[in-house]
Amino acid sequence: MTTIIPLTQRVAWQALEAHYVKVQELHLRQLFADDPTRGERMTIEAIGIYFDYSKHRITDETLTLLLQLAAESGLRSRIDAMFRGDKINVTEKRAVLHIALRAPKGQTIVVDGEDVVPGVHAVLDKMADCSTQVRSGEWKGYTGKRIRNIVNIGIGGSDLGPVMAYEALRHYSQRDLTFRFISNIDGTDFIEATRDLDAEETLFIIASKTFTTLETMTNAHTARDWLLKTLKHPDAVARHFVAVSTNVEAVAQFGIDTANMFEFWDWVGGRYSMDSAIGLSTMIAIGSEAFRAMLDGFHQMDEHFRTAPFHRNLPVLMGLLVLWYNNFFDVQTMAVLPYEHYLKRLSAYLQQLTMESNGKHVTQDGTEVVYQTGPIYWGEPGTNGQHSFYQLIHQGTKLIPCDFIGFTQPLNPLGHHHDLLLANMFAQAEALAFGKTPQEVQAESIPAWLVPHQTFEGNRPSSTILLERLTPAALGKLVALYEHSVFTQGAIWDIDSFDQWGVELGKALAARIIPELETEDKNRLKHDSSTNTLIRHYRKARF
Ligand code: F6P
Repeated sequence: MTTIIPLTQRVAWQALEAHYVKVQELHLRQLFADDPTRGERMTIEAIGIYFDYSKHRITDETLTLLLQLAAESGLRSRIDAMFRGDKINVTEKRAVLHIALRAPKGQTIVVDGEDVVPGVHAVLDKMADCSTQVRSGEWKGYTGKRIRNIVNIGIGGSDLGPVMAYEALRHYSQRDLTFRFISNIDGTDFIEATRDLDAEETLFIIASKTFTTLETMTNAHTARDWLLKTLKHPDAVARHFVAVSTNVEAVAQFGIDTANMFEFWDWVGGRYSMDSAIGLSTMIAIGSEAFRAMLDGFHQMDEHFRTAPFHRNLPVLMGLLVLWYNNFFDVQTMAVLPYEHYLKRLSAYLQQLTMESNGKHVTQDGTEVVYQTGPIYWGEPGTNGQHSFYQLIHQGTKLIPCDFIGFTQPLNPLGHHHDLLLANMFAQAEALAFGKTPQEVQAESIPAWLVPHQTFEGNRPSSTILLERLTPAALGKLVALYEHSVFTQGAIWDIDSFDQWGVELGKALAARIIPELETEDKNRLKHDSSTNTLIRHYRKARF
């Protein structure tokens, strides 16, 4: 058995610590002045993605050391282990095989002695059948009307992926169908999503890996009551409900015909499931061919990640850059700023992907980490964010590396809107990197007292990720890029990026509090004095 050297004791880590001291004050202005080719040199073009990482506070030596750290951390063997189907989700003893969801027919990936790829394609075919029936109007509701509304009920990975993908690919969606997404246990979500829908024309997709999640099951039962209020007969449920789950028994118990259940597997994590049957709403929206094109985009990125040398490997470089800021500059947050309105839910999606994956405080063997793990991800589409929080990124006291994401071709050409959009994206990255010196401000005859206010320090790093057009395949590539960047970070931090124990305590406490809100028994409350008082206060207000 090989002994793993703890991260902070690895040669490359220690070299990076020393290197950081040397380069921390280096300014991007200087780096660009010293090397006029930097903006061309520090770019990679692969599988239709142009990645510019020149505006990062790195030198060639930084990159060499980061790559050395990846090597010393066994990143290569971790990647191979994932692709082989090893049980790398150690705390749940599961394989991590979202890459199998987009494996082409004929590829073999074995889990517990069984090739999982044929099963993946069988489910895709079944999804295609369902989506074609809904899209063509062949799928009729209980009273014989065609389905016009698709409502996905799910939460977390069973919601964020479907919503994000629907919004991202809305351009390609069948416009005579209405899509709604219900996730929150707050009744408002259900009421607002269904208030103008005709039950006779509505199909609910109950999306839940476990089929036990409180929010989803509560909303699913409410949906059934809502439907039966109009359609009256329990047989209607079979025509208006389908399920996506790994839990056949619970689906049957709910009353959904298991012929209308779309299966996936315990080796697909919730936040890695938008390309599994959880994407049924996406497939109904864009059709099975476009969905398969999206899978092909994912697969292209998988292959790039698996085979490209690390110094030309997009997710590896992206992950290493996150680590550089997170662990050496003590950066706390990363902004994702798509200059593409259709990607308005991308950062919400990435929050679960990145933060549920890498928000961990112990290594795989349970040892407390002595370094920072996953940063906070957030963001909004440009240019909207420019008129809200960019002020802080430009002139605040915090260092926030940014990912700018743009497309050279608009999906909706309109006058010169697209040129204006991209001009803004390029301008923001330029302004962040190079800023504006006091001398430059003074040269504009600005009064001396205003100069500090109008000075931009610059040296604020960003990546620019450019693709040609937001197609289903492009979306697949982008999402897989972040998935594998998260993998790269987690592998080096030696954490389990695929469990999520941190959500359990709150769930258990809520289960204990629910009956306490609904009874008058004062003696039952055995929480801390704050929680007890809040519960009493609530009960008094409600009853
Ligand atoms: O509570 C967190 C979580 O388990 C996520 O990881 C998951 O995506 C979400 O809940 C929904 O779970 P399910 O699909 O089982 O309803």
